[in-house]
Amino acid sequence: MDDLRNKYIERIAEAADEAVLEELRVQALGKKGEISLKMRELGKMSPEERQVAGPALNQLKDEINSAIAAKRAALEDTALDARLRAEWLDVTLPARPRRAGTIHPVSQVTEEVTAIFADMGFAVAEGPRVETDWYNFDALNIPGHHPARAEMDTFYMHRDEGDERPPFVLRTHTSPVQIRSMEAQGAPIRIICPGGVYRADYDQTHTPMFHQVEGLAIDRDLSMANLKWVLEEFFTAFFGTTVKTRFRASHFPFTEPSAEVDIQCSFEGGTVKVGEGDDWLEVLGSGMVHPKVLQAGGIDPEQWQGFAFGMGIDRIAMLKYGIPDLRAFFDSDLRWLRHYGFASLDVPTIRGGLSR
Ligand code: DAH
Repeated sequence: MDDLRNKYIERIAEAADEAVLEELRVQALGKKGEISLKMRELGKMSPEERQVAGPALNQLKDEINSAIAAKRAALEDTALDARLRAEWLDVTLPARPRRAGTIHPVSQVTEEVTAIFADMGFAVAEGPRVETDWYNFDALNIPGHHPARAEMDTFYMHRDEGDERPPFVLRTHTSPVQIRSMEAQGAPIRIICPGGVYRADYDQTHTPMFHQVEGLAIDRDLSMANLKWVLEEFFTAFFGTTVKTRFRASHFPFTEPSAEVDIQCSFEGGTVKVGEGDDWLEVLGSGMVHPKVLQAGGIDPEQWQGFAFGMGIDRIAMLKYGIPDLRAFFDSDLRWLRHYGFASLDVPTIRGGLSR
């Protein structure tokens, strides 16, 4: 019995893996195992012999079973240790460098403009870029024969011969959203509408697609004074400095009276600086909404009046961030985007804040 015990306990201790352990278990305790055979011999023994040999064999069986279980646990521990050592990972290592994308200046400036006007109570409205010529022209008091239609270098959508639907255009300005907003919500209104617009034009300051932001405020007693205050407030917040404005009498079919607005700037040394110098730069068109436009939008001009303006987003982006060529905005040149783009987690900068 002692020989048996020593033999198995020793071999179990030396077992290198789970397979060897299993082999030893079968050898000792399997159906034809050494200890199982000895147990079967108990029957042939005298009762006295059996009383001694029986418990001793049972104890040996238990001992071997628990030695195997202990060794199995030890083997598992060793395997886990080895794995932990091999698969060790230094979570404090710096990450692999990966170039982050940037926010395009047009997106950044759109966010800035939206934030400033939102602070003055203007909601954001949107409209389709493919418009009917009614929304783009007629409803804005630009009838078919009006020279403004030709001046705008409009892109017309293709129409098959015999197609009786009204002509569709790529909107030439964001002004049609005025009409859509009037129809959708009635008066009073305070909205801005930023978005892309299209004209067949291409040079250093013109691209066939560019961006505008339209503004529209309609209420019972609005005047040019409100328009002037809102725009001056906007420029000061946007450029982060007090900006002188110049309102020049002008003409648009959809406003009466109309004014073009210039902001003070200097052109010294080949760069434009806003808010200083004796020069002026035109940045937007504006005026009191024409009664016919209110009517087209379903609003009674006897009861309501308001002002509107349209401003070039790309142009004020060029001014604020010193970007010389408009065409580069839409070239998708990665070097340009990395240079003029903004970090994606930056909050839009409204440097001056509102003076109220
Ligand atoms: N829609 C005009 C344009 O593109 C800009 C404009 C002028 C918009 C006067 C207005 C406005 O709302 O009142 O060129």
